[in-house]
Parts: sequence; structure tokens; C-alpha cells
Amino acid sequence: MSASVPASAPACPVDHAALAGGCPVSANAAAFDPFGSAYQTDPAESLRWSRDEEPVFYSPELGYWVVTRYEDVKAVFRDNILFSPAIALEKITPVSAEATATLARYDYAMARTLVNEDEPAHMPRRRALMDPFTPKELAHHEAMVRRLTREYVDRFVESGKADLVDEMLWEVPLTVALHFLGVPEEDMATMRKYSIAHTVNTWGRPAPEEQVAVAEAVGRFWQYAGTVLEKMRQDPSGHGWMPYGIRKQREMPDVVTDSYLHSMMMAGIVAAHETTANASANAFKLLLENRAVWEEICADPSLIPNAVEECLRHSGSVAAWRRVATADTRIGDVDIPAGAKLLVVNASANHDERHFERPDEFDIRRPNSSDHLTFGYGSHQCMGKNLARMEMQIFLEELTTRLPHMELVPDQEFTYLPNTSFRGPDHVWVQWDPQANPERTDPAVLHRHQPVTIGEPAARAVSRTVTVERLDRIADDVLRLVLRDAGGKTLPTWTPGAHIDLDLGALSRQYSLCGAPDAPSYEIAVHLDPESRGGSRYIHEQLEVGSPLRMRGPRNHFALDPGAEHYVFVAGGIGITPVLAMADHARARGWSYELHYCGRNRSGMAYLERVAGHGDRAALHVSEEGTRIDLAALLAEPAPGVQIYACGPGRLLAGLEDASRNWPDGALHVEHFTSSLAALDPDVEHAFDLELRDSGLTVRVEPTQTVLDALRANNIDVPSDCEEGLCGSCEVAVLDGEVDHRDTVLTKAERAANRQMMTCCSRACGDRLALRL
Ligand code: HEM
Ligand code: FES
Repeated sequence: MSASVPASAPACPVDHAALAGGCPVSANAAAFDPFGSAYQTDPAESLRWSRDEEPVFYSPELGYWVVTRYEDVKAVFRDNILFSPAIALEKITPVSAEATATLARYDYAMARTLVNEDEPAHMPRRRALMDPFTPKELAHHEAMVRRLTREYVDRFVESGKADLVDEMLWEVPLTVALHFLGVPEEDMATMRKYSIAHTVNTWGRPAPEEQVAVAEAVGRFWQYAGTVLEKMRQDPSGHGWMPYGIRKQREMPDVVTDSYLHSMMMAGIVAAHETTANASANAFKLLLENRAVWEEICADPSLIPNAVEECLRHSGSVAAWRRVATADTRIGDVDIPAGAKLLVVNASANHDERHFERPDEFDIRRPNSSDHLTFGYGSHQCMGKNLARMEMQIFLEELTTRLPHMELVPDQEFTYLPNTSFRGPDHVWVQWDPQANPERTDPAVLHRHQPVTIGEPAARAVSRTVTVERLDRIADDVLRLVLRDAGGKTLPTWTPGAHIDLDLGALSRQYSLCGAPDAPSYEIAVHLDPESRGGSRYIHEQLEVGSPLRMRGPRNHFALDPGAEHYVFVAGGIGITPVLAMADHARARGWSYELHYCGRNRSGMAYLERVAGHGDRAALHVSEEGTRIDLAALLAEPAPGVQIYACGPGRLLAGLEDASRNWPDGALHVEHFTSSLAALDPDVEHAFDLELRDSGLTVRVEPTQTVLDALRANNIDVPSDCEEGLCGSCEVAVLDGEVDHRDTVLTKAERAANRQMMTCCSRACGDRLALRL
């Protein structure tokens, strides 16, 4: 996929004569130069002014309208009828007559292929050819990608210095692409030779005299692709996307045509090759420049899938993409005339602070990295994204295991081929001491693998190591733990109601945070559950000061709504932990609140001193002292503007639900530590269809699947976290059909409005739902 914008600038599209104030193109817009060093070095930074002041502008230099904010870029991708992809691959340099004649000699007839094709032709083809890209099918390629990666690293691992691009990242994605397409082994070498010549040439701006040589390379590639395709036709039973396409052609000859298959054979390689090679080169550069992050993923490979996603967001390989408006329209508040060409800058959207918090920071634990637009979005979204993610994960795993000590060669200058759309350094030189290669002393490192994550990573998978800094008994059977980052970093700030997940032996357990939200370490309190066979017993019996623990989060499914007139906080037993953090927060902000703390006896109630610090706003309810809480009296009168937050044993929460029956919808918030909301009983569920309006797909949800499972099986990315209906991260917009809501996130009113749903647990009442995906 070679996309660059022609540099010849058409005239300003605005009729200056009709304007009193002269040309409306701002000075910044006029100065925008996508071939200049500022854009080439950092496209997102060079367009910061635009995101802030003029998010849609006309560039006289390009003759394109440039779109830079996340929501606008996504809206353009979303509508492939109004914003046609027809110009996505327009050539940088017009082809000379001589070169055209050369191409004709080879019967070169490249047709449009998926990426630049309009409806109604595009979607039937995309649907027909999608299966080999689904996670289930991609899993078959993991061993091949690992084998190739290993072979290339073997060649330089002992050398002490390498250019990762030339010696690995340029070639492996190409060979993977050939395997994915199903090119027979005996044709690989020739195909590789031709496609390298082809892609290297299309990157540049060949001078007229070089054009014929380029055309020769392209022509030969075209002919050889045709020969290989013919061979596949003789026996189309093999693995790979092309044999699959040939088999589909028999079923749907009008959808998968001959010319289409021939063109796809070439276009498929280009789509899969440069994009992935550049993305991987960007990722290694970024990670090695952020040494602490590199060391973290070396120490904990489970961070790799999220690191890949954050690299794709922060420094993706497709910086911009192109569309053409098919009718007069508006983007944001700018009028766009029919025929206007658009440069939608994915790299800028990916650094838009309106969508990503602190977008310039490289944060591999960012919960929404996978919202990036590097793969585009909607009905043309990259079909190969999960193959690319798999390759990048395996490259990172191999090199973090075998060369964790490698570093960038200092003072090297990174160069980029001047180009608006594709971005990746020409070379990434690294060096290391081969004597220190871990495999020299421990050959077992070569056999350590974690399975790749196919698809986007779940936020809940992101972990860090903490150590126990303090451990004190603060009540009968209650231990307080203070945890700090094992690497000495400040742990992320959190909000009251947040919890962390701790891995304890074979189990994972959730604990609410209850210290000060801006403290450098975390505080939790753990009650020994007499029934415990793992979690709390492990903490009480196995941990000591200095013990390391694997932690995920913090996450907040129980956040305080800051707009209430008064808060009623109710805690039972160890449920005091989130509730106390909330009460402290309310006190610090001068909010109106009351705190009720229930327990059997004082010796078992943790944090009594801190509770006492809340003075007469706190009430203790101790059953052995006869001061048990009277919930019916507490909530006798529904009071608008009052919010109730409660955490404690099931009995207490059920009592509160009962007592607040007449209260306004959404007044009572309870903390559930676990939930069975996502548990499916296939005997009682029914299957239904999802109509995905942005993607133009219909997806079947079987009784054994959640909506989220079915979406992922069809390569649709939806972020998720708890996958139990508790957190709200898997929410999608509903356009039609009635939802059977099963989450604890939406209020009654939101459920009734039927405009959103949680895909990890909620389902359809009927046989169809239309979603904005
Ligand atoms: C389309 C990026 C890897 C196959 C696209 C588009 C982008 C893109 C931006 C256009 C999206 C749109 O118009 O909404 C990337 C990046 C990659 C990558 C950044 C690597 C990091 C791959 C791989 C393959 C592939 C490995 C194939 C094996 C395709 C195909 C389309 C496409 C077939 C056309 C889909 C359609 O129009 O329906 N890619 N790509 N890509 N990509 Fe990728
Ligand atoms: Fe948390 Fe669905 S992933 S509500």
C-alpha cells in the first residue's frame, strides 16, 4: 500500500473574489508542509496547533483538506460513502508515457483492491475474504512467525551489532505475508526478490529516467504473481489467503473475479509488508529510547501485547490516510465541497488529548491504547491488524528474551523517506555485548514462550510487580498491607472506590484501595475469610515485608459521582476500605456526607481511629453493643440529590436495596467484588444477529458466546476490562433492537433509553441488534 500525496498544489478552492477579508487560509495552514522535517520527524507534534486551533484546514501546499482531531478523523473513516477511499493509493509521481508502455508490455492491469474500492463492490468482497483473518484462523500462523523470527535473530545474535531494519524487520513481515497468502515454498525466493524491488521503488520519487526501471520491476512482479496464481489454481486446496480466494471464486465468481485475485496477490503483499515492517521499527526505536519501559517488558513479557498497542498508538506506521468527499458536507464546523480531497492524519488523532489522557506520554499501561486509528476504522479497517499485532508481539518477545541488554547505538540519526502517510525509520542500529547473551549461560531461555494474544489486549491483563513495604494487624483477623512499586516508581494515582487485583498463588483477588490517593504507595486491608482456601489465607500466612506480588489496576467500578448534594456512606466489616476512602475524599472537599460503619464487635473493626476522625458525621453500628443499623429508618424518606454508596456483606447490600426501593433510580451504588453477570447458560440463551452499521457486517452471536466474544471472533475491537458487567469499558452504542441489559453499570433510565449496552454480558431480547461499530 503505497500512499503519498502529490506535491503539485492546485489553486485555492475558495472564491477569493466573493470574500471581503481575502483568502481564509490561515498562516499556519499555508505553512503546513508534510514533506518538511517537522512533519517527517513527528507528525503529531507538527499538527498540535491544528488540533488546538483549526482542526480542519485547507492546505494549499497539498491541495488537500487536512483533518487532525480524533473524533473528526474517526467520523471520516466511519462513512465510506460520503468519504470515498478511491484516492487512498494515488501515486506520488504521474507515470511517464514510456513507463506506461513498459507496463503494457507486461499486461499490467492492477485493479482496485479492497482498500481503495467503493461500495457496493467492496463489502461483498471483504465479507467473502475475511475468514482467514479471524483469530481462530490466525492462530495457525503463530508457529511460522516464531520460526522465521528465530531464524533471523540466530543470524545476528552473536555479532554484537545489527541494523534491526535491514537484518530482520524488513524481511520477516514480507516472508510472513508470502506464507499468509499461501505462496508455495519454491516460489518464495523469487516473489521476495520482486516485491522488495517493487516496494523499494514505489517508496521513492523516481526521476523520469528511473521510471522505466521501476515499471520493469513492477511488470515482472505482476507477471510472476500471475504465474504463481495459476499454479495455485491447479491445486487450490492449500492453506493461505489466495487459495482461499480461489475456492471462494468458485462459489461467487462475480464477487471474486480473476483480475481481482491477480491484483490482490500483489497488493496483499504490499499491504502486509511495509506497514508491519515500519510499525515494528518504530516500536523498537520507541522502546529502546524509553529504556525503563524496555526493561519492564524484558522482566515481564505479559506486558508485551499492551506495549505493542501503545507503540501503534504513539508511533504508528500509517501517519495519514486519504479519502475524497462525494458530496458537499461538513467536518466539525468546516464546509467541505464535493470532490474535496482529505488527508486524515491518524498520527495526530492518536495524540489528541480530547481522547487520550496525556497523549504524548508513552504509557504501556494506558487503558485505551487500542482506540488508536493506526489501522483506520469501520468498513475498510485493516483486515490484517491481528496478523501484524501477532508479528510485533513475537518480535518483541524474541528480542527481549535473547537480547535484553541491547541498546540503541548512541548518536545515530534516524532518517525517514519523505512521505505523508507511511512512517518508519530507514535503520535502527543496536549494539550489545554477545558475552552477556542470556542463552550462553541459560539455553532454556530459548524455550520460554507465552502464547500470543490474538486481537486487542484486555486492559485487565496489564500488570506490574509491587513489594510489601509494611504489614500490620489492625483488627482481629485484619492485616493492613502497604505496597510499593518494585522498581521504586510512584504508583498511578487512583480515585476513591478503586481496587487492585493481586495474583496470590494460583488465584487472583480484588482489594479496594484505602490510603491516600496521591501517596507513592498503596494501602489495602485484608480480612481473613475463615472459609478461605487461597486469597486471604495466602496473604495472612505467606506474605512478609519484602514479598513481591504481581498486581493489576487500579481500576474503578465504584466511582463517586461528584455532583450529589449529600452522600450517605455505608460500610459493613472490611467493606470499610473503599467507603473510608470516599468519606476522606468528601471531607477533604467540604462535601456534605454521613458515614455509617457496621460490625459485630469493635475488636474486629479496622480503621476505627480513622473513622473517629470524621467526628459526628460518623456513626458506629456494633451488633454486640446493641447498636445495629436500622436501614429502613436510615432510608425512610427518599431525598432527591442524595447518593448512597455501600460496601459490605451481601446481607447488608440486599437490605439497602430493599430499603431504597422508593428512592430515585441510580441513588444507591453498591460495590460488588465479583459477579456472575457474564456467566452464560447456553440452555436458556438464544442466538441473535448483530448488525454492525459502521463496519457493514452482520455477526451471529451463538448461545454459548457473549456479544464481546462474537465481535472479537470477527475482528472487531472493543476494549474490555472486567468482562463481568461491572466497569463500563466494553460499552457500545445501540442503534436499533431491544437490549436485555445484564450489567451493573447502567441506571434504570439508561437501560430504558436503550441507546447503549455492555457487550461483555448484555444480550438481545429479540433476534437482532444494530450497533454503532
Ligand atoms: C487496510 C494499516 C498490516 C491487510 C489498511 C488501512 C490501514 C492499514 C490504515 C486502511 C484502513 C481504512 O481505510 O479504514 C496497517 C498497519 C499495519 C497493517 C498500520 C501494520 C502495523 C496489514 C497486514 C495485512 C493487511 C499484515 C495482511 C495480511 C490489509 C487489507 C486492507 C488493509 C487487506 C484493506 C481492507 C479494506 O479496505 O476492506 N491497513 N495495516 N494490513 N490492510 Fe492493513
Ligand atoms: Fe467491564 Fe464489560 S468489560 S462492563
